[in-house]
Amino acid sequence: MSRRILVTAALPYANGHIHLGHLVEYIQTDIWVRFQKLRGNTCRYFCADDTHGTAIMIRARQENRSEEELIAEMKEAHLADFTGFQIEFDNYGSTNSPENLEACKIIWKALRAAGLVSEKDVTQLFDPEAGTFLADRFVKGTCPKCGAVDQYGDNCEKCGATYSPGELIDPVSTLTGAKPEERTASHLFVNIEKLHDFLEEWTQSGEHLQKEVANYLKGHFLGEPLRDWDISRPAPYFGFEIPDAPGHYWYVWFDAPIGYIGSTWQWCKENNEGLSKYWQSSDTEIHHFIGKDITYFHTLFWPAMLKVAGFNLPTKVHIHGFLNVDGGKMSKSRGTFIMARTYLNHLDPACLRYYFASKLNSKLDDIDLNLQEFTEKVNADLVGKVVNIASRCAKFISGNTLGDVYPEDGGRFQQAAEAGDRIAELYEQCEYSQAMREILQLAEVANKFVEDAQPWLLRKDQEKQGQLRDVCTIALNLFRQVVIYLSPVLPELAKKTGELLNDTLSGWEQSKTPLTGNRVNKFSHMMKRIEEEQVQKMVEESREAETNEETESQDTPAIAENWNDSAQPLIDEPLAEECTIDDFMKVDLRVARIVEANHVEGADKLLQLTLSLGGETTRNVFAGIKAAYAPEDLVGRLVVCVANLKPRKMRFGLSEGMICASGPGGKDVFLLAPDTGALPGQRVH
Ligand code: 2FM
Ligand code: ZN
Repeated sequence: MSRRILVTAALPYANGHIHLGHLVEYIQTDIWVRFQKLRGNTCRYFCADDTHGTAIMIRARQENRSEEELIAEMKEAHLADFTGFQIEFDNYGSTNSPENLEACKIIWKALRAAGLVSEKDVTQLFDPEAGTFLADRFVKGTCPKCGAVDQYGDNCEKCGATYSPGELIDPVSTLTGAKPEERTASHLFVNIEKLHDFLEEWTQSGEHLQKEVANYLKGHFLGEPLRDWDISRPAPYFGFEIPDAPGHYWYVWFDAPIGYIGSTWQWCKENNEGLSKYWQSSDTEIHHFIGKDITYFHTLFWPAMLKVAGFNLPTKVHIHGFLNVDGGKMSKSRGTFIMARTYLNHLDPACLRYYFASKLNSKLDDIDLNLQEFTEKVNADLVGKVVNIASRCAKFISGNTLGDVYPEDGGRFQQAAEAGDRIAELYEQCEYSQAMREILQLAEVANKFVEDAQPWLLRKDQEKQGQLRDVCTIALNLFRQVVIYLSPVLPELAKKTGELLNDTLSGWEQSKTPLTGNRVNKFSHMMKRIEEEQVQKMVEESREAETNEETESQDTPAIAENWNDSAQPLIDEPLAEECTIDDFMKVDLRVARIVEANHVEGADKLLQLTLSLGGETTRNVFAGIKAAYAPEDLVGRLVVCVANLKPRKMRFGLSEGMICASGPGGKDVFLLAPDTGALPGQRVH
């Protein structure tokens, strides 16, 4: 039965251009949406620009133009970037739209009616030159705890301390450089503690959130009363003025998620459909895709607001990790802070879509774009394995037709058709990396078939032309199956394959029936190899480009501000007996890199890992992490290893250490990861 599904990706801020870090999410979501559409579901992908807040207001002032002009220009640029990456929204709106204002009013009215709104005075730093209150991210100064200079107003990057901006030593406004002063203004608050029980149940039901997210919320927020949420800002502020509280504006994070409804509403008006069909009907699933930094807003405030206003709650919030490039945070000086536009100047968007798909799974781990691996993987998989199937046989049948009857192929087509259900389930669960592996295995089978059948030899023998046609019919059908499975990731390849075979690849079920009798058109190039030079040029351009690396922050509180580890109960494991520092130092913990990871034949729980401790030193370790990690996702990762553990003979070989992880076991195992910059072999103290 066809499902009705509404999908959103986080609304990008209108004060910066799209970069590769953003694209992880928009591509991940676009793949999911295309997959759902291919399955015959009614699926709509809504997004919008997130336009309000101090950052936009200040930038417009600095550029001497209106906020509206600025956000209109940015929306056009965002859309051009998304289109460039084949990301297709059903509607792309703006939080500064009449529909969003209406939706905000409805939710606000419901919050008021439920008695959840109160007014309190808030003392904040104020920039006398800019004439505006300063969000924590717009104040810098010296850390009151460790004395590190140039730290933000909410937490110290050096020592990790959290504090209020008023506590900073020698604070300056990042907007004007002026010395801020403290001023008091009244703000409106939502008392979400009244929804504590509901949020406890909703977040912990096991249905809507990944396990690690549910645990995080339980440990960090739900163990104690939820703090009132400050949802207004005093003038001057670029946003919607609150109708029943003149001089107060809704804080950007109030109207941003409501933008999901605003964008839906815009689409509904254009398509003569009712909003309630999407947001107030139990027949509609709502799926949000977001990054882990904005978990808090989407899993506590947002469901609370929806609940109070009688809207549908999210069916699922899918949360992903951050993007690193070449093992570290994106960095302008290294040329790895790559804007979407810069990438498009040098490379095919399909390559990044595929690479991200090959890395993404349903967990929150950060993903690494390793530029060398990117080049090699795309060339080996897409050019060498997928497109290669068609390029090696289409020319022998171009201008002719596929056989009228699908020939005997040793069960290959049938097997690939059966794999379709498994692959579909992997897409559904956002396990794209595993899906890509399964699809590539099918491509390998097809390649091997062509290799063995040698159509280039058959072609030379007049008596074997019937056989040649059979071989091409089989190979092109196996190719078509692979392309159907890849089409959520590679829509252009699906289009070109359709053109080659006079077919339209538009449904998952097409993979179950072979194509026969269709005319085969002339084969034209489908995908080019990536040359290393293209990547180098992109990196060079990124190094030179003006990026928004520094200016991107919005007036969003750092999530750390709300952490409360004390609320996390010690999970039925009492603390071990006290030890001395000497006891501790007996355990030699080292940073290690996983250089090889393999399944172990006959072992249900173990993976075999080869760890590098720097130089020539390696350790062979058997780790019970098979249910939680795929070997492919581990290679290249840094871990912490007990390097002086007495080697232990196991049934499968010698285990020469242990890697550190937390969690009860099974799927719930969480590897410890050193921060970027740590080197294999370094001792952990
Ligand atoms: O973090 C961000 O980039 C926000 N602009 C996301 C908003 S998502 C939703 F709430 F609108
Ligand atoms: Zn500090």
